[in-house]
Amino acid sequence: MRIALASDHGGLRLKHAVIAHLRAQGHEAEDLGPFDDASVDYPDYAKIVAHKVVSGEFPKGILVCGTGQGMAITANHISGIRAAIVSDTFSARMAAEHNDANILCLGQRVVGEGLAMECVDAWLNTPFAGGRHARRVEKIETPHGL
Ligand code: RB5
Repeated sequence: MRIALASDHGGLRLKHAVIAHLRAQGHEAEDLGPFDDASVDYPDYAKIVAHKVVSGEFPKGILVCGTGQGMAITANHISGIRAAIVSDTFSARMAAEHNDANILCLGQRVVGEGLAMECVDAWLNTPFAGGRHARRVEKIETPHGL
């Protein structure tokens, strides 16, 4: 699968580890920055990945910052994005199965590398359940949720 990734300085190390993990599995993981550890603003990078996903260029994206929070808050401002912050494998699986999350957000200061990779795998390898969950996901984009 083609997966777009970005981070801020607080997520750079984990992003590199996730990219290596994905490529070892045969995924096409594209690093959309940053490319050094200079301090940057996470919204700039969350928006790059979010727009790549809503455009259809990439079916999924992964964003890493210190906590995952800033990335998710920003990405979820963009219509069509369902960004889920995860730090356990159950939530990662459910974010795919029930919420059809198209962006996974990880916190480098929250999860170790081993757990992060298990979260990535759980999210990528779990199909969306559809059915009643599709109805609920469709309501996310309805202005007043009705
Ligand atoms: C950067 O210091 C930090 O605020 C950022 O990586 C992230 O945790 C924000 O949500």
